[in-house]
Amino acid sequence: MPLALLFADAGVRVLGFDVDVAKVEALNDGRSYIHRILSDEIAAAKQSGLRATTEIAELSACDAVLICVPTPLAEDGTPDTSFITSTVEALAPHVRAGQLIVLESTTWPGTTTELVVPALEAAGVVVQRDDAAGDVMVAFSPEREDPGNTEVPRRAVPKVVGGVSREATEVAAALYETIFDRAVMVSSTEAAEMTKLLENGAGDWWALHSGGPVLFELARAAVWTADTVH
Ligand SMILES: NC(=O)c1ccc[n+]([C@@H]2O[C@H](COP(=O)([O-])OP(=O)(O)OC[C@H]3O[C@@H](n4cnc5c(N)ncnc54)[C@H](O)[C@@H]3O)[C@@H](O)[C@H]2O)c1
Repeated sequence: MPLALLFADAGVRVLGFDVDVAKVEALNDGRSYIHRILSDEIAAAKQSGLRATTEIAELSACDAVLICVPTPLAEDGTPDTSFITSTVEALAPHVRAGQLIVLESTTWPGTTTELVVPALEAAGVVVQRDDAAGDVMVAFSPEREDPGNTEVPRRAVPKVVGGVSREATEVAAALYETIFDRAVMVSSTEAAEMTKLLENGAGDWWALHSGGPVLFELARAAVWTADTVH
């Protein structure tokens, strides 16, 4: 929702898709369902063209589709990525050539290339690579909302983006720079995914450490690329 409000405020037409009918109705009535967001903000965004729907087919009209579905921890402590998979599977038949698809959900490094891209390609959607043309561009950009922080304006938080192709990275960065002061391009979706884990793990070094050498290899790659690729 914070992203939708920033885009609406920047004059971008926003269509929100949700499976929750009550949330869709609230937004279309100009009412907030999130305690820290005022209904006045929703009403203002509605005036700028914000609209919500439960019809996923309507997303084919959008130039960019940003996926921000939940990734709760499953009972065994692993992230439940079923919302991501089911959303991409539902979206795939309605994808239009030229669209940018960005995953924002907090998840493990590899999710975009191992779950999102295969789910699209299983439905016949060709994802653009650096060495091969495709129907759509795919990227990952972690949601970095800091609920309750009133000191740092939302747009001042740098937005990290990493694409399956260089063009996907650049197009996603250009999109986010319409609402954020700065987008930081990293070399891959995995690097962008890892920056979020590093950020979340900063207060829990042991949890990060116990993730093992694979995470550390990815972490090194993420830090290195975040520092050097722009
Ligand atoms: N909220 C934050 O401050 C915050 C900050 C950083 C990262 N994140 C990450 O962003 C992701 C989303 O978090 P959130 O807090 O916005 O979750 P949320 O539960 O508040 O909102 C997710 C929305 O997705 C909807 N939804 C569920 N399944 C769907 C489907 N198949 N298709 C379409 N919509 C569906 C739900 O109805 C809900 O409205 C998570 O991965 C979370 O870890 C959130």
